[in-house]
Amino acid sequence: MTATPTARWLRRPAGTPVQLGYGADYNPEQWPREVWKEDVRLMQEAGVTIVSLAIFSWARLQPAEDRWEFGWLDEVMDLLHDAGIAVDLATATASPPPWLTARHPEILPVTARGETVWPGARQHWRPTSPVFRTYALRLVEAIATRYAEHPALAAWHVNNELGCHNVYDYSEDAARAFRVWLRARYGSLEALNQAWATSFWSQVYGDWAEILPPRLAATHPNPTQQLDFTRFSSDALLDHLRAEREVLRRLTPDVPVTTNFMVMGTTKGMDYAGWAGDVDFVSNDHYVTPGPQSLDELSFSANLTSAIAGGRPWFLMEHSTSAVNWQPVNQAKRPGEMARDSLLHVAHGADAVCFFQWRQSAGGAEKYHSAMLPHAGPDSEVFRAVTALGATLRDLAPVTGSVRQPARAAILFDWQSWWAAELDSHPTDRLRYRQEALDWYSAFLALGVRADLATTGTELSGYDVVVAPVLHLVPQALADRLTAYVDGGGHLVTTYFSGIVDENDHAWLGGYPGALRDLLGLRIEEFAPLPDGVSVQLDDGSRGTLWSDRITVTSPDVDVLARLAEGESAGLPAVTRRRAPGGGSAAYVSTRLGPDGLTPLLDRLLAAAGVASELPPAARGRVELTVRTDGSRVFWFLVNRTDAPVVLPLSPARVLAGLSDGEGRITLAPRGVAVVQYPPDEAPGDRERAAAGPRPL
Ligand code: GLA
Repeated sequence: MTATPTARWLRRPAGTPVQLGYGADYNPEQWPREVWKEDVRLMQEAGVTIVSLAIFSWARLQPAEDRWEFGWLDEVMDLLHDAGIAVDLATATASPPPWLTARHPEILPVTARGETVWPGARQHWRPTSPVFRTYALRLVEAIATRYAEHPALAAWHVNNELGCHNVYDYSEDAARAFRVWLRARYGSLEALNQAWATSFWSQVYGDWAEILPPRLAATHPNPTQQLDFTRFSSDALLDHLRAEREVLRRLTPDVPVTTNFMVMGTTKGMDYAGWAGDVDFVSNDHYVTPGPQSLDELSFSANLTSAIAGGRPWFLMEHSTSAVNWQPVNQAKRPGEMARDSLLHVAHGADAVCFFQWRQSAGGAEKYHSAMLPHAGPDSEVFRAVTALGATLRDLAPVTGSVRQPARAAILFDWQSWWAAELDSHPTDRLRYRQEALDWYSAFLALGVRADLATTGTELSGYDVVVAPVLHLVPQALADRLTAYVDGGGHLVTTYFSGIVDENDHAWLGGYPGALRDLLGLRIEEFAPLPDGVSVQLDDGSRGTLWSDRITVTSPDVDVLARLAEGESAGLPAVTRRRAPGGGSAAYVSTRLGPDGLTPLLDRLLAAAGVASELPPAARGRVELTVRTDGSRVFWFLVNRTDAPVVLPLSPARVLAGLSDGEGRITLAPRGVAVVQYPPDEAPGDRERAAAGPRPL
């Protein structure tokens, strides 16, 4: 269940202007002191308002167990403060120093194969190690005590990207903590044996001490054990976050606490929806995944971060000015991409835009990672673009604090289904939960229709349409909520492999899609996944891959929207929609259509629900619209998704960014962004909304 953050923002001295934050991770310990003054001067030139400091400074702050060296950090804090730059101060616990791992090698993580993860990089610590916890909290206490009253201190940054490299640890510490977690979850061994279906393959446990993490096994480890270990691993990191936070709250109750999440394509292990209630504001790191959906994925991640933050402003803690260093080929961003990427995060609720990192490192593993100040120095395209973005963010000060104006459609994203749907020993190992959700999102973008990402904690009743792709794990309570949503007039769309298992990963019996069978009005006896290279033709012209089902319709209220068109299954339903008595509906898509196949189908489904694009027709697909509001003003963010200019016939009350000709037209440069302001109820979308009604399928 999502718990929303407590909604405290940065602590700043009275009189500090209300504006969007701008800055980076700042690692002054990598540079001689002479450089620090130049850093601060150039930060001011670029419009930097905040930096994250001391993230990897443990070895410099505590060079030996009984030696502390804060002098250099005092100096940097003062320099920044004198320049009016706020500090998001790290607790510095992300990378234990060599003296600690040499003395206590028992804090090092262990892989499923029993290998030790040695020091030499970073994040080489067990989330469940009591020894690590003791040393880490001592450091947190020392830093918090020293800087509690420092006027530059605006927020605490717990650790760094918790779980980035150490989410799964199979050590003895992990085994002990896993058992404690399981006892709390199940209460008795009987309940655990039942939940884990241990009668299968003679796995019945007679003593808690017999239970292990799912270490390397002869073949498929118990799936519920795996699912619980994934849940536990996320919770173990959350426990670490809480432990650091408690020290910080005790010593500095008025300083908000955050930690940088990683809501992006490459991260799966942390249930951030479940973590959000444990921070004062949500922060996120995002790096672009190259490929045909790279921009869609950026928008998807930002949108999901907004959902996790309960629609309230959040902090973009890291992204890149240009290339990263950790992809197989690290491509530089093209002109305009950096600003567009940054502003797309703001469009989805970010109130601060920060980068990794301020000054590009000369040595170390990240020396080829871009930064605000590149190797080339300030006389560079990157630094000029960085400075221009700083000015744009200043112009956008009025949007600070505004919240997301909900869309009429939502995509439900659920970590439990993500984890469960991609377990091994399934009908196919090709299924990718996040990709399916992203494909639906791409279809919304192609149609120019706004859709909010939602989590299972989001109140869904306000949405006309909810798409829940591959909602695989459906406990009874979730099935009841979705049924109530449809009974209340909502339009639910779901897909293959949904409603299949309960919270223990046990199949719902009686035919698929199990928990959603009656809601959808259909029954499936056997899955029919498709091998690589095999696809199914549908009679609406689309082609499906990955999956197909042999569907029997069980309700007279089901309309078949598309049928299989070829082979032995020709004529069987492939896409269905049950009309519910209260005017709602429940649709089912039995195969993977990809963005191209989903777009026309989604168009039909949205039209039937009366949901239309708020954008002028020529802009649909080419421009992404997001809307933020502070109650008295509505801000439209218009993001050009193409490499060509787009002209929009829109008359804003005020243009905060972008080009308006003053005669009712806004021109978006290639990859450009405009932000326009309207009085409430006067945005063009509001008029469209009033005029739109449901269209027949
Ligand atoms: C993560 C880390 C940073 C840096 C960047 C590089 O986001 O938090 O320290 O390693 O990746 O992309």
